[in-house]
Amino acid sequence: MSEQYVEMNRLAWDQRTETHFKSDFYDVPGFLAGRTSLREIELAEMVPVAGRRLLHLQCHFGLDTLSWARLGAHCTGVDLSSVSIEKAKYLNEQTGLNARFVRSDVYHYQRGPEPPFDIVFSSYGAICWLPDLVRWANIVAANLVTGGTFYLAEFHPFHNLVSGYQYFDSEKPDIENEATYTENGSGMTATMATWSHPMSSVINALINAGFVITRMNEHPFSPYNCFDGLEEREQGRFYFSHLGQDAPLVYTLTGKKAG
Ligand SMILES: C[S@@+](CC[C@H](N)C(=O)[O-])C[C@H]1O[C@@H](n2cnc3c(N)ncnc32)[C@H](O)[C@@H]1O
Repeated sequence: MSEQYVEMNRLAWDQRTETHFKSDFYDVPGFLAGRTSLREIELAEMVPVAGRRLLHLQCHFGLDTLSWARLGAHCTGVDLSSVSIEKAKYLNEQTGLNARFVRSDVYHYQRGPEPPFDIVFSSYGAICWLPDLVRWANIVAANLVTGGTFYLAEFHPFHNLVSGYQYFDSEKPDIENEATYTENGSGMTATMATWSHPMSSVINALINAGFVITRMNEHPFSPYNCFDGLEEREQGRFYFSHLGQDAPLVYTLTGKKAG
């Protein structure tokens, strides 16, 4: 990826993180008081994590990473933003959860001498920042033990399409100056580069990197109120109606690294 886009996104995420950390959306005080930041979808679908080595790619400021750590996982979180990683390390210290946080572009992440992970996890608003899914899937595979699990919970590309983005893979990024999605975010804008990816590209990249896809689900709600026009019909479930019908808002994939 052009370093110019990585740098643009890093600066934007540094700025967003300062806002997100103070938001009700992320509810840091609630997390520190013991609440999980994980949502019903991943809590229901993930493999057991207790005692397992878990790599969280694009961990933002670590709430989900540390929530998996509270469930007994030995966690490493990786993110591009230095502000995110500083705040994740602060929360790690506050909670004494003994996770590791590494500032790195996903594409340059080096595990070092430690063994590969049992689980790689990534979620909600991750792959739109990645131009090359083939490289990404190979990095996921390279960091997993044989038989290890990759779990992805991601926003559904159908919603991108109805929001005016292209559905199929984009070589050129969308460059936009936009506010962030937290309730306190309207005052800040940042210029960011994103790439569209249909589900077939995600799945094929993983298959070609040596994964067997063991489950795929689509959900008609988002656990986050992060798009315009969502309706909370049940607590924590935000729906989007398209031409009178429920749109798919989240998809999840579970893959096993084949031997
Ligand atoms: C929407 S957040 C991830 C969502 C996460 N589920 C959350 O809400 O906490 C996207 C994250 O991806 C990170 N990111 C963007 N591009 C990246 C890259 N090339 N390598 C590593 N992290 C990246 C950003 O810094 C940001 O923290």
